[in-house]
Amino acid sequence: MSTRPAVLSRQPAFETFVPIVRPTLPRFEDGLSRQMAGLFESGIITKGDYLIEFESRIAKHLGVRNAVAVSSGTLGLLLTYHGLGLKDEVLVPSFTFMATVHPLLWLGAEPVFVDIDPRTWNIDPAKVEAAITPRTTAIVGVHNFGNPAPIAELESIASRHGLKLVFDAAHGFGSLYQGQPVGRFGDVEVFSLSPTKLLVAGEGGIVSTDDDRLAEHVRVGREYGNPGDYGSDFPGVNARMPEFNAVLGIHSLAMLEENASRRNRLVAAYREALDSVPGITFQEIAPDNRCSYKDLAITVDEAAFGLARDELASALHAENIDTRKYHDPPVHTHKTYRDRIGRQRDPLTVTTEISAKSLSLPIWSHMELDMVERICASIREIHDHGLEVRQALAG
Ligand SMILES: Cc1ncc(COP(=O)(O)O)c(C=O)c1O
Repeated sequence: MSTRPAVLSRQPAFETFVPIVRPTLPRFEDGLSRQMAGLFESGIITKGDYLIEFESRIAKHLGVRNAVAVSSGTLGLLLTYHGLGLKDEVLVPSFTFMATVHPLLWLGAEPVFVDIDPRTWNIDPAKVEAAITPRTTAIVGVHNFGNPAPIAELESIASRHGLKLVFDAAHGFGSLYQGQPVGRFGDVEVFSLSPTKLLVAGEGGIVSTDDDRLAEHVRVGREYGNPGDYGSDFPGVNARMPEFNAVLGIHSLAMLEENASRRNRLVAAYREALDSVPGITFQEIAPDNRCSYKDLAITVDEAAFGLARDELASALHAENIDTRKYHDPPVHTHKTYRDRIGRQRDPLTVTTEISAKSLSLPIWSHMELDMVERICASIREIHDHGLEVRQALAG
């Protein structure tokens, strides 16, 4: 292997492209193939027994009364916000995936963006409190990249001000808050089960809550709003989870603990290998919490590292290493939101800074440790040759 970065030597560190993520799927042979074949034979491919089994296993795993499976995290959020009657102002981070916020617009509610903590990259409770007005109806926290949000602080603020509290737990399977799985906090939490997550159902989502009324609203809402008599109580959608996805989810749940542990071991290796590289920092996880590491992001300080985040991304691309600038651009700058935030009060300084400096590196649950070492070696070499790399990229 070359000891010079590929932008200088034309010899990439990896012969084949290293993607940002690979889904870790259960082995098809281990019961899954038999169950899938059974679905084809029976013809019951939606609203069947696997959905019921999946929901009950998830509810037990999370320690909640209700886990309602839906066809995506986005529709889970839409039905949840609708069921809670969110309107007027809803406090939400801008440093998140757009799907946290879009359903608010579908309901005619007004997102009010709140800045994040510069260490955890999660919504900042002090800034949440400062953003509350008489028109505020709810707070939406996000367990960003799987790092549990400041749950106790947000619960205290929500209860003092009489606000609803939702957690977007799209990245949350595998995350532990003070030793407990996220999913049981606030009024409700909403997960995604798409292929980049630790628990994969192909596509899908879970709404987890102890609020029976809300759970029923989501169950009816995923069925067009039809409570079972072919009338409708409200305008719902089709957000059902097919049986194929539920079977996959059941098998994936069995692998969750192993997947979360493996990712934490990989991140420990990333941290150790990059510890001595100037200008690289990691998202801070409270010592009594566990991050799922749905994504592993670093920040790149241009002055200390010698190259800007985008230059590092380009240099890694030349090594055949994929990266992502997740949450850049931040949601409040999207075309969808730009014209709607005239009365935005929080200047979102940290959001602007972190979204410009952060870079997600490849991670998946069955990734080999050796690959982490090689990726980190590339980052070190790119840093060591910073000036030449900059000139080569500019040329
Ligand atoms: C923070 C966040 N919220 C919501 C979603 C939407 O989930 P889905 O893709 O299952 O609709 C995602 C998707 O990854 C996400 O990252």
